[in-house]
Amino acid sequence: MNRNVTKSLLDTPPLLMLAPMQGLTNRVLRQWFIEHVAPDMVFTEFIRVQTRSRKRVTRSDLAEVNSHKGETPLVVQMIGHGEEPLCEAAEGLQLAGAGHLNLNLGCPYGRMQTGATGGELLREPLKLAALLRKLRAQIKVDFSIKCRAGYADPRQIFELLPIFADAGVDWLILHPRTVVQRYAGEADHQLTAEVAAICPMPLIANGDINDVATGLKLLQIPGISGLMLGRGALADPFLFRRLREGNSELPSEAERSAQLRGYIGDLLPGYLEQFCGERQSLMKLKDLLNFIPDLSRQRLLGKLKRAQSLEKFGRLLQEI
Ligand SMILES: Cc1cc2nc3c(=O)[nH]c(=O)nc-3n(C[C@H](O)[C@H](O)[C@H](O)COP(=O)(O)O)c2cc1C
Repeated sequence: MNRNVTKSLLDTPPLLMLAPMQGLTNRVLRQWFIEHVAPDMVFTEFIRVQTRSRKRVTRSDLAEVNSHKGETPLVVQMIGHGEEPLCEAAEGLQLAGAGHLNLNLGCPYGRMQTGATGGELLREPLKLAALLRKLRAQIKVDFSIKCRAGYADPRQIFELLPIFADAGVDWLILHPRTVVQRYAGEADHQLTAEVAAICPMPLIANGDINDVATGLKLLQIPGISGLMLGRGALADPFLFRRLREGNSELPSEAERSAQLRGYIGDLLPGYLEQFCGERQSLMKLKDLLNFIPDLSRQRLLGKLKRAQSLEKFGRLLQEI
């Protein structure tokens, strides 16, 4: 994907994106979403930029970028610190075929042994401004940022916007919680609306978009170019479809069961291929189950989480 492709996508909102989620939105899961519910863009899980090795991005992360097929743009997300490591990583990722790079300025657990990363970078805005300018000069493709509203003060975003604009960031994804807040409380979409009113670049809203009504309400706010769905999409991938259709009717229990059987069941063969053996594949599938909130299915979900073989898991899944 080159810059013009993303720009034209952003010109035709609403744009629906699958959020990056470390440990969950692997290649197989992303492909399932692309084939079944067609998000407009998908993201890699964050790619840790190595500070101690001259190879800034691991071979398996480069392969992740390189292996992306099809028309749906893959946004490659970096997390790290230091101008030199991040610029060199950006160069390597572009050589590997990344058509769009994103910097993580939100992760509350991003601290690496070598220094502060993710949301922690918001603690030093001057240093961040210099880093973004350097990165922008290095990045020939689209460059976006995914950030929290602030480190401890949610109104910090209003100081960050001019920094992002001066650096030439193409677009912004805002999760309106602070880094300190982690996942407590609610995403403050009043704040999203305030930001949208003055944001000098296209803005994508993120955070607690778990139903059609919330998504559609956000899309009515002038200045919002799209939505990014994270946990809500893991819980209910078909939220993408209903949002696109403007359909707030929930599926019946029988439909929901069929959807869940299809969603989880379809992942089984891909996970076996992608991960190391049955044990790891099963663990990855169980991680996903943690995001399915259906009260009426918790007993069965519990049994699925205790399954010791893929064969048993597959059998139990038929009862969902
Ligand atoms: C398990 C998990 C892993 C995450 N990993 C990433 C990540 O790799 N990069 C990132 O920018 N955000 C990451 N996030 C944050 C989500 O992308 C998203 O911003 C956040 O969950 C709020 O959106 P939601 O309410 O739709 O889930 C992660 C969130 C969760 C729950």
